[in-house]
Amino acid sequence: MRIAVVHGPNLNLLGTREPEVYGTATLRDVSREIGALAEALGVEIVEFQSNSEGKILDFLAEVRDGADGVVINPAGLGHTSVALLDGLLGISRPFVEVHLSNPASREAFRRHSMIAPAAVGIVAGFGVDSYLSGLRCLHNHLLRQRQE
Ligand code: DQA
Repeated sequence: MRIAVVHGPNLNLLGTREPEVYGTATLRDVSREIGALAEALGVEIVEFQSNSEGKILDFLAEVRDGADGVVINPAGLGHTSVALLDGLLGISRPFVEVHLSNPASREAFRRHSMIAPAAVGIVAGFGVDSYLSGLRCLHNHLLRQRQE
């Protein structure tokens, strides 16, 4: 099983970016934890971060045939991007939306997610554990789908 993990805009700044909101773990730390869990689950990870919406859309289109599902932290794009929703719908792969913080407890504009209606589920507010839970849940979801 292969799962794509996508980090949206500004997540390259993790560790120094608003640490009171996002914590002090860097993106490299997050990747390391994802990698360790993936190894334990026997899942192969293809990971991608970009600050460019177009590059994320290109990555999704490219990974389409090589990934069974997607864990995505859409960052700010999740609140605004019809194109990201369309890109995710376009590849017909189940995806889980994850957030380090809990957007529902923050500014009103963060309460809306463009991609949430198409997600299998959402995990938010647990820092790095949001990614790890999202990965576990998607892994289980894909295993169940295989059994059907
Ligand atoms: C975020 C939450 C978003 O509202 C914000 O724009 C981000 C990060 C999170 O992981 O908590 O960039 O997706």
